[in-house]
Amino acid sequence: MELMEELLKDWDGESIIISFDRPSGAWIIIAIHSTRLGPATGGTRLKSYSGLREAVVDAQRLSEGMTYKWAAAGSDMGGGKGVIAVLPDMVEEARPGLLVRYGSLIQRLNGLFLTGPDLGTSVEDMDIIGGEAPEYVFGRTPTAGGAGDPAPFTALGVFSAMEVTAQHLFDDPSLAGRRIVIQGAGSVGRVLADTLCSAGADVLFTDVDPQAINYCRHELGVKYIPAEEVYEIKCDIFAPCAVGGVLNQATIQRMDCLAVVGAANNQLARSEDATFLQQHSILYAPDFVANCGGAIAITGMETRGWTKEEASVHVRQAVRENLARIYRLSKEEGINTDNAARLLADTRLNPSNP
Ligand code: PHE
Repeated sequence: MELMEELLKDWDGESIIISFDRPSGAWIIIAIHSTRLGPATGGTRLKSYSGLREAVVDAQRLSEGMTYKWAAAGSDMGGGKGVIAVLPDMVEEARPGLLVRYGSLIQRLNGLFLTGPDLGTSVEDMDIIGGEAPEYVFGRTPTAGGAGDPAPFTALGVFSAMEVTAQHLFDDPSLAGRRIVIQGAGSVGRVLADTLCSAGADVLFTDVDPQAINYCRHELGVKYIPAEEVYEIKCDIFAPCAVGGVLNQATIQRMDCLAVVGAANNQLARSEDATFLQQHSILYAPDFVANCGGAIAITGMETRGWTKEEASVHVRQAVRENLARIYRLSKEEGINTDNAARLLADTRLNPSNP
């Protein structure tokens, strides 16, 4: 009880729905951070956590990130996130039933929360959830009438963010010959690695999953580095594309890069770490600006009828314009880039404020 009181009082979001899924032993958490600009919309993350508290905090922070992501991108959507905290030993057979029950909960929320794929969920999972809540699920397979996988669009947005960053650092947007270290070769990281190799960048990656390592090394031919070495490697751009919280006092001190541009959500452990990065002369592309591509593309294709090509154009443009503006604003106002990005989003969230 005390736990929930503390967690909710200190949070500036609107509400949280928590449900215990008895058959699978999983906790379902849906955090509604803001419906100011539209229905709370965000992906569904499925993984195991150390406990309910950690899962609730993750849902809270991720849903806040979505509020800023939509606002900065100029979308008329609010911030929300679904977290399904499964038991570490949950059997595969329990998954479809869990997703069906999760979908039926979303259906009963009647449009308060809309979802799509995120870490740990796939487009096929969206088909199952969407079977129960057809109007409230993005990113189903094309066969089921959805726009499919957001990952290539997220990767495209991150790539554009890297070009803007290179332009800012070197007065040249080309990534050819630049050394880029990718942390996490999941659905986004591997597409990004592939695109960067084609652009002539010197790409290195790390992951902990043997299958992902194998794929990137042997199918893509990207150089692998052990996870524990990832922060020390001298490079132009460090790209966090896995879990959040990787930019903290301990890691920033070890980092030998000129910029951080990646796809992971909530890369900063604490908001002050953006200042810490600045003090270490590391240019930080705010995560919710760099990684908006998937969300923008999939929702645009499904609600505005964009083709894939149109979606790609929108993603590139949104990331380029916003990030260039943020770097400028950060310089002009003498604030860190994360604060500059929040300022930009705030002007859309609270247009009446000067
Ligand atoms: N996982 C996406 C993100 O964090 C969320 C999303 C994807 C939302 C697709 C809607 C559609 O940005």
